[in-house]
Parts: sequence; C-alpha cells; structure tokens
Amino acid sequence: MTAATAVQAACIVAALLFILSLAGLSRHDSARAGVVFGISGMAVALIATVALASRSIDATAGAVLAGAMLVGGGIGLWRARVVQMTGMPELIAILHSFVGLAAVLVGWSGYLEVEGADHTELAGAMLRIHHGEVFVGVFIGAVTFTGSIVAYLKLSARISSSPLMLPGRNLLNLAALAGFGVLTGFFVAGPTLALLVGVTVLALALGWHLVASIGGGDMPVVVSMLNSYSGWAAAASGFLLNNNLLIVTGALVGSSGAYLSYIMCQAMNRSFISVIAGGFGIEAGPADDTDYGTHHETSAVETAALLRDATSVIITPGYGMAVAQAQGPVAELTRLLRARGVQVRFGIHPVAGRLPGHMNVLLAEANVPYDIVLEMDEINDDFAGTSVVLVIGANDTVNPAAADPGSPIAGMPVLRVWEAEHVVVFKRSMAAGYAGVQNPLFFRDNSSMLFGDAKARVEDIVRALGPAVAVQRDAAEPERKKALAGVG
Ligand code: TAP
Repeated sequence: MTAATAVQAACIVAALLFILSLAGLSRHDSARAGVVFGISGMAVALIATVALASRSIDATAGAVLAGAMLVGGGIGLWRARVVQMTGMPELIAILHSFVGLAAVLVGWSGYLEVEGADHTELAGAMLRIHHGEVFVGVFIGAVTFTGSIVAYLKLSARISSSPLMLPGRNLLNLAALAGFGVLTGFFVAGPTLALLVGVTVLALALGWHLVASIGGGDMPVVVSMLNSYSGWAAAASGFLLNNNLLIVTGALVGSSGAYLSYIMCQAMNRSFISVIAGGFGIEAGPADDTDYGTHHETSAVETAALLRDATSVIITPGYGMAVAQAQGPVAELTRLLRARGVQVRFGIHPVAGRLPGHMNVLLAEANVPYDIVLEMDEINDDFAGTSVVLVIGANDTVNPAAADPGSPIAGMPVLRVWEAEHVVVFKRSMAAGYAGVQNPLFFRDNSSMLFGDAKARVEDIVRALGPAVAVQRDAAEPERKKALAGVG
C-alpha cells in the first residue's frame, strides 16, 4: 500500500468514526461510546492530515506545524479541564468562532494564492468555481465568526442578553443576503481584492447583527445554528483545500447541527426557516414594567411542613440548580419524600440550564432514577393534580409570560407549574431569568419564594424533614418486622 492510499484509508476510517460518534451521542446509554468514537476519529484525522502535509513541507514548516499543534492542543486540554458545565455553551460558541475565522483565512489565502501566482492550473469554469468557493467560504466563515463572538459575549454575560432591535432589521438581513448574491456574481465574473474585502465586511456585520438581534431565551437555538454554520464553513474550506475529510466532517457537523436546530425550534415553538434566515427573534414590545403586586416569602421549615402533607410533588430544576450544585441534596430530598410514600417526579424543560440535557446529566450524576425524570410534554398536564411544585433555580422555563404575545419569550412552551396547588420557588432574589423577562409566577397567590442559595435551602428542608422521617420509620419498624415474619 502506498503512503497516499494509507492516508486515504485513514480518512475513510476517521469519517466512519465520526458517523458512529454522532449515532452514539444521540442516546443516553451510548453517549460515552460516542465520545470515544469522536476522539478516536479526530486522532486518526489529525495523524492523516499531518502525514499528508509532511510530504510537501520543509523542516521549518514542519516545526511551525508541530508548534501550532502543541500550543493549540495544550490550550484546548486546559480549557476543557477547567470549564464548568454551566460555562460549556460559551466555550462552544468561542470555538465556533475559531472555525469561522479559519474559513475566512483559508478563503483569503485561496484567493491570494491563485491571484498572486504567475501561473495557475485552474482555467475557465474551474477557475470560476474556485472563485465561487472562495467567496462562499469567506461569507459563511465571517458570519460564523462574528455571530459566534456575539453569542459568546451574551452567554458569558459580558453583554446584555436582550435583543438589539434596529428598525427594519429583517430588511437589513435580507438586503445583506441579496448584496452577497450580487457580489458573488461580480466576483465570479471578475475577482478583485475590493470585492473580497467588501463581502468580508458585509458578512462580519451580518453575523454580528443576526445574533445581536436575538433575545436570551432563544440563545440555545442560536448556538446550535452557529454549530451548523461552522460545519458548512469547514466544508467550504475543505473544497478550497481539496481536502475530502474536511468536506465530509464539515458536512456532518453542518447537517447534524441543522437537525439539532430543527428539533430545538420545535421544542421552542420557533419557525426553522426564519431561524436560518436569522430574523426569527420576536418584535419585542417595550420593557416589561408591569406591576404584578407583592410576592409571598416562605421558609425552609414551612416548605418542609408543606411537603409533609403532600401526596405528590414535582420538582422543576433550572440553571440555578446547576449554579448551586444542588443536585445531591435534591436527590436526598427525593429519597426522603419517596420513603414517606410521596409521589415525586421531575419535570425537565428542553432548554433548562445552559446546554441540552444539562438537568438530566446533573440528576443522573446524583443517582435520581431515570423513570421519575420526565420531559416537559410528558408531565405538563399533571401539574393540575399536584400538591406541591418545587421550582429549583428555574425561571424562564416556568414563566407564564410566554402566553403574552408582546413578551420576548412569547410562544415558548413552558412548564405550567402554576396549575399545582402550591408552588415554592427557590432563588436568591427577585431578579429576572436569562431572557431578562420578569416572571409573574412569583406573584401568584399559590406561589411562595424561598430565597437563598438553592443547595443551602434544600439542605435546610432535608434537615427539617429528616428526623420526622426517621421517627416515622422507627414507629413503623415493629409492624414491618411482623409483616416480614408473616405475623398478624
Ligand atoms: P434561568 O431563566 O436562567 O434562571 C435561573 C434562575 O436561577 C435565575 O433567575 C437565578 O435567580 C436563579 N439562581 C442562580 N443561581 C442560583 C443559586 N445559587 N441558587 C438559587 N437560585 C439561583 O433558568 P432556566 O429556567 O433553566 O432557563 C434557561 C434559560 O437559559 C432559558 O432562557 C434558555 O433559553 C437559556 N439558555 C439555555 C440553553 C440550553 S441549551 N439549555 C443555552 C443557552 C441559554 P437569582 O439570581 O435571583 O438567584
């Protein structure tokens, strides 16, 4: 087997491993295997790429390549080790921006290489296709680059998550797309540096505007959409570099990201077409200064008393549970209540927390049984017959304002916790959630606020409940022993 054939074979193996990785990641029980397939595929792809490059570069270029891999790999390893789970979306967003920037640089170098050369093998239709690839690659890459930077800034709270509402913003987006179409025609017919600079600036502005005009509540869809864009940007670079593996990998990321965006759009009741057109944010009304009245405060002891009398409890966790790392005490509380014969279930909103499946991972980590953890659609009709709902660090995902057409989260499906007999909301203050929208739930007659760090408050309730459960267990012990012995 020649070296070239070995490299081609390695590329096919890597592509297959990526497909297996995606398949594995789509299910809880195979997710770990999916990660292993992904890492293995990337290792094979990296080795094949270096082997391919090493045939045409000198020692200096080889040293630069090795240095870049060491520095890049080191930074990646360090960031992955120190990142908190709540910080994952912003890390992902900034990584997408690198893919976008790389696509812009590859596009520019593809142009300069051909234009600067005395002689090129490309001619006629092939040359025009090359120019088209350059232009499309630079456009997608630049949109991904600035869009991802804005997403990073919003997700890390470095800028406000409120949407930027420029007048006629949908028209601006459409005009930018139309401008791109026209510039592409000119560039393919007669490429110039000015046109390339023009499309780069246009795409950078469009990417910035697309994401800036989207409200915080819609950020999960934006992140998966940028994931898809970064895949297409990589595929465009693959065409320019004549690298089949990059084309296949980019297409896999692009299409799986697009499908994830589609699923998330359905969960969030958003139109997929308007998401990819970038103008899907809501025409938000004025800031919500409605006076919802006064809220009622409660204590851990009162909540424990409420739980003692409850027959059914639903826990709806959110981002605050992750921040407080309250999943352990929440699992303990669940065990205590179930030991008392209370029916306990969890209601999980599809975008609770800061990444898909965030709450499921935390609850699984704390050994909460899978079968009592239900998706929003499975549990939403059951709130009405429930004694107590514990809203632990959730806010936007339980906000009844979603039913208000003027709200920035209008139309977003939410957990209808307010239909229960009693609702206890665990949070530290009356502050709004991620979308920056006030929550009328907090002011309802059947809602009480339990202020403080969610972990500390749940631990207080566990303490308040614990002895009573122990006493109850002790009292029941002789009966239980008799029953086991078959007496009476
Ligand atoms: P959020 O709306 O983000 O609200 C979380 C609440 O937790 C806050 O109101 C905060 O109130 C409270 N909190 C924070 N730290 C706490 C602590 N230590 N103890 C107790 N409470 C604490 O949460 P959610 O309902 O999970 O909604 C998620 C939001 O994030 C949605 O808008 C969603 O669109 C967005 N988002 C989701 C994702 C994905 S993929 N899941 C990705 C990006 C964005 P206090 O400050 O008053 O304590």
